[in-house]
Amino acid sequence: MIDLHCHILPFVDDGAASWEIAEQMCQVALDDGITHIVATPHANSEFEYSRADLSKHLMELQTRVKGKMKFSLGCDFHLSYENIQTLWANPGRFLIEGTPYLLIEFSDYGLPPNFEHLLFGMTTELKLHPIITHPERNPILQRHPQTVLPWIEAGCLIQVTASALTGSWGRAAKEAAVWLLRSRHVHLLATDAHDPKHRPPILSRARDIAARIIGDEAAWNLVETTPSMILDGRIVQSVA
Ligand SMILES: [Fe+2]
Repeated sequence: MIDLHCHILPFVDDGAASWEIAEQMCQVALDDGITHIVATPHANSEFEYSRADLSKHLMELQTRVKGKMKFSLGCDFHLSYENIQTLWANPGRFLIEGTPYLLIEFSDYGLPPNFEHLLFGMTTELKLHPIITHPERNPILQRHPQTVLPWIEAGCLIQVTASALTGSWGRAAKEAAVWLLRSRHVHLLATDAHDPKHRPPILSRARDIAARIIGDEAAWNLVETTPSMILDGRIVQSVA
């Protein structure tokens, strides 16, 4: 399986707190059947995102795990005004490397104003393929999960957190995740892991729950087929 969203790099955000913890996370992921992790550090007002430094960090981790895990670099892109300005100046800086895909996270408190307008610019001017992360954890989207439909129509992919399906984020998040799955509006499951224990890089449990809702093949697509296409830079149709 491929984990497209993981805070595995130490010292760069609120993810892994040391190299040892990053290595433990790799082991947890390997034991779960994950073979490729996209390291996605936060880019927000709290954590600066320097692509060159992060690339060096990722090489260090690669060396430490002795090639047992494949890695790519991406970004957990927060929709702040400053980030959007930087994105327009240098879009490649935040993408999953070698692809046109950008992981976008909303604030936990609301939705960005004029998101449709922004989305239009991202897809038509910058030619990006946005991936909306964890809509099931946003309180507004929990109440109105159908809000994502026009975003999907506009080309967005939807990534749900594996641990939301297993119940770690509470009932509202789980119900929203199940609603999105059942209505076939989920393109990816990812761990959004931050440590080996409390927010671990485990996909298999959520994949099995998804399989009971949408079937084995569709569940497998969420953790392997679709992320693999994304890493190859191929176009994933947001609308089936
Ligand atoms: Fe994240």
